[in-house]
Amino acid sequence: MLVSLLLVTLASSASCSVILNTRQSNAKVIDPGATPDGASGPIPESFVAYSIEFSSFPEFAGNLSSPNTFSNNLLDNLAQLQGTKPYIRVGGNTQDYALYNASLPIALNGTVIPSRSPDYPYLIDIGPSYFESYLTLPGVKFIHGFNLAKNSTSDHARLLESVPLVCKALSHGNLLYWQLGNEPDLFKTASQGILRPRSYDEAAYVAEWQNLTTQIMGVVAEACPGLSNEQWVAPSFGGVGNSLRQVPTWAAGLNSQGKVVLIDSHNYIGGATQPGISLRGTLMNHTRTRLSVDAQVAVKNSLAQYSLPFILGETNSLYNQGAPGLSNSFGAALWNLDFALYCASQDIKRVHMHQGTNYRYQSWQPVTTALGTKGTKAPYYGNVATAAALGDLRGGDVRVKHIALAAETDAGYAVYAKGVLRSVVIVNMVPYNASSTVTRGSETYSVKLPVGCTSDAVVQRLLAPGSDVIDGATFNGVSYDLALDDGKPVVVEGMKRDEGVTVEYDGELAVDVPWSSAAVVQPSCV
Ligand SMILES: *[C@@H]1O[C@H](CO)[C@@H](O)[C@H](O)[C@H]1NC(C)=O
Ligand SMILES: *[C@@H]1O[C@H](CO)[C@@H](O)[C@H](O)[C@H]1NC(C)=O
Ligand SMILES: *[C@@H]1O[C@H](CO)[C@@H](O)[C@H](O)[C@H]1NC(C)=O
Ligand SMILES: *[C@@H]1O[C@H](CO)[C@@H](O)[C@H](O)[C@H]1NC(C)=O
Ligand SMILES: *[C@@H]1O[C@H](CO)[C@@H](O)[C@H](O)[C@H]1NC(C)=O
Ligand SMILES: *[C@@H]1O[C@H](CO)[C@@H](O)[C@H](O)[C@H]1NC(C)=O
Ligand SMILES: *[C@@H]1O[C@H](CO)[C@@H](O)[C@H](O)[C@H]1NC(C)=O
Repeated sequence: MLVSLLLVTLASSASCSVILNTRQSNAKVIDPGATPDGASGPIPESFVAYSIEFSSFPEFAGNLSSPNTFSNNLLDNLAQLQGTKPYIRVGGNTQDYALYNASLPIALNGTVIPSRSPDYPYLIDIGPSYFESYLTLPGVKFIHGFNLAKNSTSDHARLLESVPLVCKALSHGNLLYWQLGNEPDLFKTASQGILRPRSYDEAAYVAEWQNLTTQIMGVVAEACPGLSNEQWVAPSFGGVGNSLRQVPTWAAGLNSQGKVVLIDSHNYIGGATQPGISLRGTLMNHTRTRLSVDAQVAVKNSLAQYSLPFILGETNSLYNQGAPGLSNSFGAALWNLDFALYCASQDIKRVHMHQGTNYRYQSWQPVTTALGTKGTKAPYYGNVATAAALGDLRGGDVRVKHIALAAETDAGYAVYAKGVLRSVVIVNMVPYNASSTVTRGSETYSVKLPVGCTSDAVVQRLLAPGSDVIDGATFNGVSYDLALDDGKPVVVEGMKRDEGVTVEYDGELAVDVPWSSAAVVQPSCV
């Protein structure tokens, strides 16, 4: 395996159990508190979720004669940890380019126009077999993204013609919700192509949305009687400061007909080619993550009167599909963990990590192409660590608390189940390059255990040779590499699993966390 012995040595330093008389003087104190006071409300199931680019969905899911078992295995791994498979939203920019063509003999005919985007096709036809991909990932529930941007009479006819195929493919207990339009707040300004005139405003968007969703629901009712046709996520805006805003959109009557069940917003921490973007300053920076999420929380709070859950239906590190060396590095895995748990702690009810074939921020590449090799990517390990920290969500009683720490390279969280401490997460985002000649350091955190916890706890680590690497990550000594067992979990020889830690001082656990790694501490509490 690619994991070095150095890591094993570092990891083992936490498991020595010397009883000290005093807390180690340099230790940072993590105090989760005995109760979930200050934690989020209950986190719904499938909190760790994905959004898959519309044009990449056939590659991620495969089809009935050739299902993508690798994708399915990676989704099953997350189900083992959080209780259910990730929900998947199928959409993104390309949902608003795709038009249905009943005579197309293949699932998708896409033509890339590099001046629009080199990463995904701009001209897209989908054929009847596109919808087979909804049948290859058993147990996954989907949000299907319909095209809002293409608005000629014939475009609308092609959209409505696709509806019976979509609803039949989603008639197997696999429908979560419907969506119409991706990031309409960018329709007037998108660098990939302007989709609406300057005059397009919130009221115009709401009128279009109401009209078309009503028409789609009519077709669903006819073609798929008995299937819910009323559950929509909206407005799926690309950000909080674009040319349409959430508050006037809702005020213009987005939910006047009661179709919307979730408020959907999209978020990226920064842009792939924005000046000044760096691993340490942008992703391995809890302050940056907090500020970015807090802007979404402000929008959520401003919509409180609508009493609907708020999700990030599409999100990831850096927009424009991520930056090489940043979004695909192990540092991005640490960012994934910090970002997801911070969202959870702020009552953002689900985080759909976006991915597409060849994207830099993807959790896995589903097929080999000229631009990318099929395989599990570092960010996936951040998704695994998040699911492990939350544990089984099916009871509906898991809550997450953010623990404020002084350094912007530190993040801490406590997870409670039925009011009892389930896990404590420590993310150390001090950069460390695998090629560095400096010895990798670590920091000690003193975790205060509430009364009711025994003196034993288990530590599971998110580790790799450095924050800059793109390979060699593990969680709790397990690799999900494609080459080992098609993405199924494989224990890496020599790596620690479920390390024991015992109370060192006055109800406190001392946990060493190497630079550029995270620890999920699982105490035994009642
Ligand atoms: C639909 O696909 C068929 C078969 O590839 C093609 O001949 C036809 O031109 C397409 N129709 C449209 C409207 O693009
Ligand atoms: C199913 O996927 C395989 C492998 O990508 C492909 O060769 C085949 O044409 C697909 N079938 C349909 C009906 O699209
Ligand atoms: C795919 O689209 C291109 C144009 O974008 C067209 O030339 C080609 O014939 C299409 N292929 C099929 C099978 O429809
Ligand atoms: C439809 O889109 C075009 C741009 O593609 C725009 O000029 C037109 O105003 C749109 N129609 C409506 C009703 O929004
Ligand atoms: C949608 O708009 C069209 C054109 O303005 C109109 O004829 C139709 O009745 C509307 N449909 C609904 C369901 O609002
Ligand atoms: C971390 O993010 C904050 C907020 O964006 C910023 O002020 C700070 O400079 C960043 N840290 C580094 C080292 O770039
Ligand atoms: C790690 O390597 C990158 C790229 O070579 C460099 O920019 C960065 O400063 C290095 N970080 C550390 C902590 O050495």
